[in-house]
Amino acid sequence: MERIPIGQAQKLTSPNPFALLTVRKPDGKTNVMAVSWWSYASNHPASVVVCLSSKGYSGQCIRESGAFGLSVVGEELREAAMRAGTCSGRNMDKAWELGIPLTGADEFPQAMVAGSRLWLSCQWTDSLTIGDHVLYVGEVTDILGDASVKGLYAWNGYDLLDTVPGE
Ligand SMILES: Cc1cc2nc3c(=O)[nH]c(=O)nc-3n(C[C@H](O)[C@H](O)[C@H](O)COP(=O)(O)O)c2cc1C
Repeated sequence: MERIPIGQAQKLTSPNPFALLTVRKPDGKTNVMAVSWWSYASNHPASVVVCLSSKGYSGQCIRESGAFGLSVVGEELREAAMRAGTCSGRNMDKAWELGIPLTGADEFPQAMVAGSRLWLSCQWTDSLTIGDHVLYVGEVTDILGDASVKGLYAWNGYDLLDTVPGE
């Protein structure tokens, strides 16, 4: 074995779960960002955590709107989902420009990504600054799933989105 940096360690533990995080912007539209640093955190109450860079826009929108959604998206969004992880929604309507189909804005606090394997709609309950990231805790208020959709995972750190065999 050899000493390696944290970024290399993250590559050695991939694939990571992957989702598109959706959150309502102050103008009522929905921002979409790629997240692979998310995890289940509690069963009772059902809760998740997402770790967001303090430089990004989505964290500010979570703090302002008090809610966020995670959509585990399928193969047809591989390229658009990757691109949602390389540009900021601060000055653009990412979902519209990248062709990411949204739905459910009337039913949930934010829109969700249509055609997904899993939806977790969450109420923001807590957060903790950890170095250059902020960990947001979300209590899951709605869960919808469709096991016929093969979900995308983040491989080799952030390098690649792909499905896993056998899902
Ligand atoms: C596959 C992939 C996974 C990512 N996971 C995260 C993550 O978990 N946390 C994070 O802060 N940024 C992550 N990013 C980077 C953000 O998606 C990126 O900084 C994005 O531009 C932030 O958008 P926003 O400014 O609209 O919030 C990821 C990017 C990719 C391509």
